[in-house]
Amino acid sequence: MSLLKLDRVNAFYGRAHVLHDLSLNVEKGERVAILGRNGVGKTTVVNTCLGLATLASGTIDLNGERFKRPRYFNAARAGVAVVPQGRRIVPTLTVRENLALGAAVDRKGPWNEDSVFQLFPILRERADTLGTAMSGGQQQMLAIARALMANPDLLILDEPSEGLAPVVVDALGVTLCKLADEGTSILLIEQNTRLVHTVAGRYYVLSKGSIVDTASMAGLSMASLHRHIMV
Ligand SMILES: Nc1ncnc2c1ncn2[C@@H]1O[C@H](COP(=O)(O)OP(=O)(O)O)[C@@H](O)[C@H]1O
Ligand SMILES: [Mg+2]
Repeated sequence: MSLLKLDRVNAFYGRAHVLHDLSLNVEKGERVAILGRNGVGKTTVVNTCLGLATLASGTIDLNGERFKRPRYFNAARAGVAVVPQGRRIVPTLTVRENLALGAAVDRKGPWNEDSVFQLFPILRERADTLGTAMSGGQQQMLAIARALMANPDLLILDEPSEGLAPVVVDALGVTLCKLADEGTSILLIEQNTRLVHTVAGRYYVLSKGSIVDTASMAGLSMASLHRHIMV
């Protein structure tokens, strides 16, 4: 069962052609990484699934449903939730209000305010403070919790380790493994080799808007993984 399937996708911002015949697939139960240096189109993969970049040709299937014109809410309703690059915590809203945004799609499942507070107890303590008043690591917890509120089958995280201290990244790795063990599939876009090594079972390498390599993580050393990120 495929949760995210892109087939020969070409995507644009205006006249800028960013993704070139890009195909990738994430099956239920998988933990997949997308690697690649800055500017190769990693975020554009996400943006195209959300309708923020233009899908000119190719197909996108979310949880078995084909979207000719993908839209943000379509993705969440289909069970694909995104933790965006830079977290995008709404600065005028409290922690609790930011969480409510994620629940707007009203999908059934184990996640609600109480269960995300159990996963990240600090969010309960800070529930009525502004989301952006917290540390970077706490804001990343909030961004993940907000995505979980949509009860996704697939969680896409776009460079979640960005700007976090190594010890906070390690905690993030533990959380993502726990979520995956409990049945949430993961698509992790990352440049942090250590986090990829902890979380992913398989990876794609993106270069200049195309997939140039894909393989299992098994047996892959940190050094060769690092070389892949530098492609
Ligand atoms: N909103 C946008 N409008 C036009 N070009 C963009 C936009 N966002 C990104 N790009 C360009 O698309 C390319 C891929 O960007 P992006 O997907 O953000 O890369 P990555 O996430 O791998 O760093 C880059 O050349 C970038 O300058
Ligand atoms: Mg990016």
